[in-house]
Amino acid sequence: MYRLEGRHAIVTGAARGIGRAIAERLIAEGCTVSLWDVDGDEVALAANEIAGSAGKVHFAEVDVSDRQAVASALAATRTAWNAGPDILVNNAGIGQVASILDSEPKDFDRTIAVNIGGTYNCCYEVAPLMRDAGGGLIINIASWFGKSGRPMSMAYCASKFAIIGMTQSMALDLSSHGIRVNAVCPGTITDTQMREQADAAGALKGVPPAQEREHLIPLGRLGKPRDIANVVAFLISDEADYMTGQSVNVTGGLWMN
Ligand SMILES: NC(=O)c1ccc[n+]([C@@H]2O[C@H](COP(=O)([O-])OP(=O)(O)OC[C@H]3O[C@@H](n4cnc5c(N)ncnc54)[C@H](O)[C@@H]3O)[C@@H](O)[C@H]2O)c1
Repeated sequence: MYRLEGRHAIVTGAARGIGRAIAERLIAEGCTVSLWDVDGDEVALAANEIAGSAGKVHFAEVDVSDRQAVASALAATRTAWNAGPDILVNNAGIGQVASILDSEPKDFDRTIAVNIGGTYNCCYEVAPLMRDAGGGLIINIASWFGKSGRPMSMAYCASKFAIIGMTQSMALDLSSHGIRVNAVCPGTITDTQMREQADAAGALKGVPPAQEREHLIPLGRLGKPRDIANVVAFLISDEADYMTGQSVNVTGGLWMN
């Protein structure tokens, strides 16, 4: 465990899956956490379930692709906390199983708006507060699809490559303000809605489900949301205080570059 008591963290896309696991881990580490998600019912449910054990949980229904909505959610969060965020985890993301030949322009646009635009909007609103406070931590959830082009994933790959570039650029611009910026690149993670949706969409296009690709993973199993939360907690901790601009693979060895 790391000593993160007293820190205030925003986790986007926290209603389920990896984001919820990150929120739960940060609360267990002593953080005060605000769960943000576009799914208002589900994020309220998640916050209530988590609060049962912790009692330190705020939540907001927000579409991170909408800059004004992000600004409003941040204002509400700061009011609830009477403090600004020390930690921002940009986890909200969507995917699509499509090549250039069968993609829909509106799906491409939405993937870019949520994955890149959402990360931009949250950083745009939060980074100045961290600068004024003298420091902070930003973690962007990218993907191993942000390091290597993969089939049937053009829009998603484009967005995740961009997030790694944004991470490196922001790390350079913000280091002098005491703000560290890192990315985590998950491999094939199960027990998430995105995995279920990708398997279902892939089945229609001849892409085998994740379970059938498990044997390709050197550590012999699909990843779990907690595998990502463990590394996010480390990167936030002072144990990682010499790390910035990194994009850390958490893939069971599936991707090593
Ligand atoms: N599951 C995997 O195998 C995998 C692999 C690599 C990277 N990732 C990345 O991890 C992150 C989390 O993925 P997951 O697998 O937990 O997915 P998930 O679908 O289970 O959860 C994503 C959450 O983000 C929320 N969300 C979607 N659009 C939003 C928006 N516009 N504003 C606010 N919230 C929004 C959803 O409501 C959902 O609760 C994503 O960025 C994803 O790209 C996942």
